[in-house]
Amino acid sequence: MKKITIAIDGYSSTGKSTIAKQLAKALGYVYVDSGAMYRAVTLYALENGFIGEETNKIQALIKMLPYIKLKFEFNQALGYAEMYLDGKNVEKEIRSLRISEYVSTVAAVSEVRQKLVDIQKNMGKDKGVVMDGRDIGTVVFPDAELKLFMTASPETRAHRRYKELLDRGEDVDFKDVLKNVQNRDYIDSHRVNSPLTKAEGAIEFDNTDMGLQDQFERIRGMALRVIEKQ
Ligand code: CDP
Ligand code: CDP
Repeated sequence: MKKITIAIDGYSSTGKSTIAKQLAKALGYVYVDSGAMYRAVTLYALENGFIGEETNKIQALIKMLPYIKLKFEFNQALGYAEMYLDGKNVEKEIRSLRISEYVSTVAAVSEVRQKLVDIQKNMGKDKGVVMDGRDIGTVVFPDAELKLFMTASPETRAHRRYKELLDRGEDVDFKDVLKNVQNRDYIDSHRVNSPLTKAEGAIEFDNTDMGLQDQFERIRGMALRVIEKQ
């Protein structure tokens, strides 16, 4: 059967990566978490003193971009690829609230986007890919056969992320998580370069009151219908 490209965009904690992983597994496709790449560059920038509470050395970060080594490595036990930065598995570090607080600033830098979009396009060149992010349907794969735009209320999304961070052992305040979700929504949707917006032809999917199983069955149905038409 002919493989397609599935682009999943939307706001933070709308369940993009959950549905993307489930779809990739069900279809035998590759899942790519584009956000992990922006998070890894942000970790690099923080660790090397290019950004911080009173630091904003974006030009210096841009100069180092060619030397930042990002790699996805498939984890058989988990069933999806994990992010490596300069040879080190950084999955845990990149999901922290601290990274979330800086990632949208780093992701607004054109040179950063250019580097990561090139890698992402290359990863999807043979189709059979489910990629989630903010500009997948608009910029990375504008010709994707299935595009989804995921939404849910900010409070619901913040509760989901808060629970996830607590489960991971991170001691956070709900109000800080909600503030971060709202800040990132704003920065991601208002930046000049590749703002988060519903791509042409994308199907909007609000899962504020929808459980994971229901969401999976509906979206898998959509994907199978598109694949059958190829
Ligand atoms: O999981 P969550 O939705 O919170 O975020 P993510 O997908 O890990 O993305 C983290 C951040 O990276 C976003 O808030 C964006 O600033 C940026 N990003 C982006 O600009 N473009 C993408 N394709 C993916 C992520
Ligand atoms: O990738 P994104 O940030 O959009 O979201 P995610 O990491 O897939 O989901 C964030 C959290 O919300 C996870 O713990 C999901 O299990 C949960 N979630 C949910 O409870 N109900 C949904 N319909 C979607 C996600």
